[in-house]
Amino acid sequence: MSKLKNDTFIRALLREPTPYTPVWLMRQAGRYLPEYNQTRARAGNFLALCKNPDLATEVTLQPLARYALDAAIVFSDILTIPDAMGLGLYFAEGEGPRFERPLREEWEIRDLTAPDPATHLRYVLDTVSQVRRSLAGSVPLIGFSGSPFTLACYMIEGRGSSDFATVKKMLYERPDLLHRILEINTQAVIAYLNAQIEAGAQAVMLFDTWGGMLSQAAYHEFSLAYLRRIIAGLTRAREGLRVPSIVFTKGGGGWLESIAATGCDAVGLDWTVDIGAARARVGMRVALQGNLDPAILLSSPQVVQREAAAILASYGKGSGHVFNLGHGISQHTPPENVAALIETVRTTSVAYH
Ligand code: CP3
Repeated sequence: MSKLKNDTFIRALLREPTPYTPVWLMRQAGRYLPEYNQTRARAGNFLALCKNPDLATEVTLQPLARYALDAAIVFSDILTIPDAMGLGLYFAEGEGPRFERPLREEWEIRDLTAPDPATHLRYVLDTVSQVRRSLAGSVPLIGFSGSPFTLACYMIEGRGSSDFATVKKMLYERPDLLHRILEINTQAVIAYLNAQIEAGAQAVMLFDTWGGMLSQAAYHEFSLAYLRRIIAGLTRAREGLRVPSIVFTKGGGGWLESIAATGCDAVGLDWTVDIGAARARVGMRVALQGNLDPAILLSSPQVVQREAAAILASYGKGSGHVFNLGHGISQHTPPENVAALIETVRTTSVAYH
């Protein structure tokens, strides 16, 4: 049950030797794949797809059928937690996530409670166990959650935003209220990730998509402090194997030392950072995951090959690198460019191990 046929991803996260550099892609199951769009149409919409374990399992496995990826990531969304808290998640066609009942009043914040994952997020846990069964030990399965701060951004704003001005206003005017939300979110994330681990997730990743828009001081107080508490609260090992954790703060390149000190096993990098320079700063303590600019996948296989090879060269020899994009894959990506990327990483990286 616990024996993995391909454990390069787990080994790289733990900085153990591997024969090549493992690779997976953020949002690897998604709209750039025609088969995803078909399954999504069968489900009706994105949220219905997430909430149907059979169909969510199907789309989780789709990119693995096409490409030699070294990990699967459970198909879901970070906003399932606030949905389970009763905020009413929906996706307006082509417009991204929205909440029917964003947190507006002080009493709503006081009343907020962490959902019990076994009841309100059962569908995610069912997908995790179903995917684990289907993978049959071929590659490891990643579970994930949003960071407390990134979840709070959507819960307060009620939708995506270019500046999250309402959130920042609360941060400076009523830090007590924001801390209250972050406290509940932290409890929710710990319970949710541990439930995913219990259901079969073999590594976990925290997506802190909006932490990078904060000042240095605010980042440490309102995002990083809670990430550290989550890492400390995670189940360390399951089935006799360590369950590594990855922290990804988009725009967090200035704070890599602080992120590496949270106790996580790996730090996710966006494309603004040189991965070799990042390794020199924190590579002795953590593995690094990243960091091809997803826009490169909109070009040609030749350009993809050149840029992927440059990242492998920049990281250099030795273990501790999980190849990935610097953010989620674009829906406009030609699938053949993804094939070129995975192939390049697999063949070119052998020389660095
Ligand atoms: O990586 C994977 O394959 C797992 C699936 C996954 C999704 N969302 C599926 C998804 C993961 C890990 C996420 C994380 C997520 N969701 C984040 C953090 C990472 C990031 O991208 O910054 C955030 C901020 C969200 C919230 C969210 N969900 C947004 C802003 C959107 C709209 C963006 C868009 O591309 O339209 C979503 C929708 C979403 N989540 C899609 C997918 C495949 C597209 C929905 C569709 O099919 O219509």
